[in-house]
Amino acid sequence: MYLEEISHTAGVTLVLCVFAVLLLALHGRRREPGCSLPPGPTPWPLVGNLFQMGEEIHLSLTNLRVQYGDVIQIKMGSLVVVVLSGYSTIKEALVRQGQAFAGRPDFFTFSAVANGTSMTFSEKYGEAWVLHKKICRNALKTFSQAESRDSNASCLLEECICAEAVDMVEALKKQGDERYAHDDKEFLTIVNTNNEVLRLFAAGNLADIFPIFRYLPSPSLRKLLQYIDRMNNFMERNITEHLITFDRNCIRDITDALIAMCEDRQEDKETAVLSNSQIIHSVVDIFGAGFDTVITGLQWSLLYLIKFPDIQAKILQEIESQVGVNRLPQFKDKPNMPYTEAFIYEVFRHASYMPFTIPHCTTDNVTLNGYFIPKDTCVFINQYQVNHDMDIWGDAEAFRPERFITLSGHLNKKLTEKVMIFGIGIRRCLGDSFARLEMFVFLTTLLHQLHIENVPGQELDLSSTFSLTMKPRPFQIKISTRN
Ligand code: HEM
Ligand SMILES: *[C@@H]1O[C@H](CO)[C@@H](O)[C@H](O)[C@H]1NC(C)=O
Ligand SMILES: *[C@@H]1O[C@H](CO)[C@@H](O)[C@H](O)[C@H]1NC(C)=O
Ligand SMILES: *[C@@H]1O[C@H](CO)[C@@H](O)[C@H](O)[C@H]1NC(C)=O
Ligand SMILES: *[C@@H]1O[C@H](CO)[C@@H](O)[C@H](O)[C@H]1NC(C)=O
Repeated sequence: MYLEEISHTAGVTLVLCVFAVLLLALHGRRREPGCSLPPGPTPWPLVGNLFQMGEEIHLSLTNLRVQYGDVIQIKMGSLVVVVLSGYSTIKEALVRQGQAFAGRPDFFTFSAVANGTSMTFSEKYGEAWVLHKKICRNALKTFSQAESRDSNASCLLEECICAEAVDMVEALKKQGDERYAHDDKEFLTIVNTNNEVLRLFAAGNLADIFPIFRYLPSPSLRKLLQYIDRMNNFMERNITEHLITFDRNCIRDITDALIAMCEDRQEDKETAVLSNSQIIHSVVDIFGAGFDTVITGLQWSLLYLIKFPDIQAKILQEIESQVGVNRLPQFKDKPNMPYTEAFIYEVFRHASYMPFTIPHCTTDNVTLNGYFIPKDTCVFINQYQVNHDMDIWGDAEAFRPERFITLSGHLNKKLTEKVMIFGIGIRRCLGDSFARLEMFVFLTTLLHQLHIENVPGQELDLSSTFSLTMKPRPFQIKISTRN
């Protein structure tokens, strides 16, 4: 009885204490009345929440959403990061409040790219940036509308992409002779160089999280800076070469399109904010962003194609009925092949190999879902969570291209819109339609020419290694010629 009473009082005291602490904690986080900072796990001194995140940050952050909601705040070392999940919350931020979320954080590694003038990584959001992005978009458009030299292709872009696809198939065929092709050598050599950058980027990020690492000797950071330097030099040489051989009537590639822009610019006073070198450096942006991402998408596609032979068979059926055997696939086939398009969307969704967009940064004080986010806060967008949200997809873990096909057999645009891999809003990827066209032509050309299947006995693992872009684990494919 006596004991019971004590424990009762103790219980009440404890509850009161906890309540008081909670109130204090809440009070401490309050900035303005009725507008608190986003919730999140309690950070440890010095390291913040870094060790609570584990190996696969996108999964940990997706789990945290269950507890804390769509807007959460974590600390990575000394860096405060607000993480956004949920389709409608992300849309509210990046589209409706687009300008406020359109910045890029002032990361040490970011500012090294393109000598600090990169459109993608290191420009303050503002008039000059808006213009820069417009110029890049126009250059891509100019290039994709340039006329083809080959009467069979509708444009230069189609000619380039189709030729590349054929080259890839030839390279694969040659390797197929060695019975088991180890992935694709040509792919691998390309990817390895780019992989190196991504790996170094991941390592260099320590310098973004803990500023002290900028001043300590770090081999990987030094290597990253060296690499970026080499890349910049290479581009500079290449661009000079382009300038010498430039012919306004024969646009060969994106560099040429950008040079044409610079020349047009002389008359246009509006664009005087940007230097020529800044515009030309866009080549680095466009190549850097477009190369590795498409190749990774193809690697994932190959993995899904051999993992699910019945899905491969359905795509093949579409190729046979829409393209036939007498010619190769072209751009114009894409609208007639909804299943193949659905497959590509499902690869984007299921693999979510860009789990986050490039980090954003607030350009102003903002309120989102009732939470206050101060100016210059680093913001992560959890694309992986949207792509695996049970409320949107139901059986999110199943790989099922059919989910995108309507009863009448068309692509369900309302649903494909919700696949989040290119970001949305002002900072949305410039090359998304490019990328989807490229993947379409590569995949259909490959299947048109080759039969690919799993190597007997090989377990196909759909997990990935975490990075800025996630790669599938290495796997082998067995190749044989069709017909
Ligand atoms: C499947 C392939 C691709 C994927 C998954 C992809 C994904 C992305 C993502 C997630 C972003 C960041 C968006 C954000 O920060 O909110 C981005 C930005 C960008 N992408 Fe892509 N991309 C792909 C292909 C391409 C291609 C082919 C090009 C060029 C032809 C390209 C050019 C760019 C550029 C220039 C940016 C920077 C935009 C900005 O900072 O405003 N991308 N991409
Ligand atoms: C890089 O930027 C620095 C200072 O902003 C400038 O002095 C230098 O010439 C630039 N280098 C190149 C290759 O553009
Ligand atoms: C166009 O395609 C046909 C048939 O595929 C081929 O014989 C011809 O050489 C091609 N023309 C050019 C200019 O490549
Ligand atoms: C560099 O220039 C050469 C010759 O103009 C061209 O063949 C090559 O594709 C260029 N490389 C890049 C990455 O732009
Ligand atoms: C943003 O909010 C902070 C804290 O409420 C305030 O001190 C600062 O002046 C605000 N800045 C802008 C640009 O509104």
